[in-house]
Amino acid sequence: MISDEKLEALLKELLPKYEERTRRSRALFERARKVLPAGVTYHTRLFAPYPLYVERAKGSRVWDVDGNEYVDLWMGHGTHILGHSPDIVTEAAAEASRIGTHLGFENPYAVEYAELLSRVVPNLEMVRFTNSGTEANMYAVRLVRAFTGRKYLVKIEGGWHGGYDALHTGVSPPFTGPESAGLPEEAIKYTISVPFNDLQAMEEALRRYPVAAVIVEPVLGAGGCIEPVEGYLRGLRELTEKYGSLLVFDEVITGFRLSPGGAQEYFNVEADVVVLGKIVGGGYAGAGAFGGKREIMEMLDVLKYTDPRSRPFHGGTFTGNPVSMKAGMTIVKYLSDNRGLYERANELWEQAKREIEEACEEKDGACWATGTGTMVGVHFTRVRPRNVREAYELRWSRKAELALHLYSRLNGILYMSEKMPHFLPSLIHGREEAKASVEVIRGFLSLL
Ligand SMILES: Cc1ncc(COP(=O)(O)O)c(C=O)c1O
Repeated sequence: MISDEKLEALLKELLPKYEERTRRSRALFERARKVLPAGVTYHTRLFAPYPLYVERAKGSRVWDVDGNEYVDLWMGHGTHILGHSPDIVTEAAAEASRIGTHLGFENPYAVEYAELLSRVVPNLEMVRFTNSGTEANMYAVRLVRAFTGRKYLVKIEGGWHGGYDALHTGVSPPFTGPESAGLPEEAIKYTISVPFNDLQAMEEALRRYPVAAVIVEPVLGAGGCIEPVEGYLRGLRELTEKYGSLLVFDEVITGFRLSPGGAQEYFNVEADVVVLGKIVGGGYAGAGAFGGKREIMEMLDVLKYTDPRSRPFHGGTFTGNPVSMKAGMTIVKYLSDNRGLYERANELWEQAKREIEEACEEKDGACWATGTGTMVGVHFTRVRPRNVREAYELRWSRKAELALHLYSRLNGILYMSEKMPHFLPSLIHGREEAKASVEVIRGFLSLL
């Protein structure tokens, strides 16, 4: 196997090259550290020895402040499914800004968008908008607890649902306890984490606790784009029904990505509540929604549940603002009218995964490509990981991911994260970008 010393030596060799190419990013980092903790607006965007500061993006590319061009495989955290700033969307948002950036009253755009979503997303009969995926999950949790009268939640180890207290546990090893300082144990007391792709562990949890809902990303996202094994999602559907719990699909990444109707449509499995984010805002802030079957969503109806304590709260100053409504609606309409895009993109990236695996195989099985369609994970593990615990525990080195990230930056490919490579290309990334992504891994492996 490839030694840590070899990877260490490679990192040492590549670092000066990075510093040479990114002088302006370095200078910005030094300024930023004085006013932004760690010099960044979100710690996940930090990489060693300092992040790239990107000043411009279009289509499948971004440019950093030093003028370097990159194929972007991160696409605004998986938001830009039609590439950065597609004209149809920027025009829709510009029009919305002229109407009024934020009306603060009910408006026809939110109604129109809700109607569109109810046609495109399976089992979403009613919907409410939020400002982020985190918020959508938070309100979905309130809703499922109110609907079932139960407190417990089951989530997946390595599952990422944003920073909301009740779901901010079981994300990284050892997958227990609060994931953050300032988060009391009591806040996660009713949240159980079980491994992905393990129906037995799920059933044990459901048998043991009165569970309001199982909350799952149908394909793990930040946990390294790990796909569900055959029958897993259907198994979750059956188990939740057996134990009287609801099934929540967190489709913040998979929604509008695997297919216009997301993972429910792609895998043909029904969820009770769907959480949306990222793409749902059309590339603008204020991207979040949760929706589901009418009888569940009606719990939010103040006309039916007049006593505030009898219904779960949902609200927010910017919910349903015209910019996110019009931008989101434009994208979702385009996607549902152009289904052929999915077939092409999903096949392109399935092929890229096969080619990455071939390269890994040639290097004594040093790595694996996981994921579904335009979600691609790369894992330097001894065997193909089926869940995030395996992705961490079966790594043969902790340095391979770091070295690949640095090597990719030097070779014009940007993705996240430095510790858990996952690519979220858009539907407009073509063969050239897919080929470049495979080549960067091939090139990296050839150095080891
Ligand atoms: C599956 C999933 N759920 C929820 C979130 C949180 O969304 P946001 O960052 O918009 O709060 C994310 C963000 O990456 C996500 O990937």
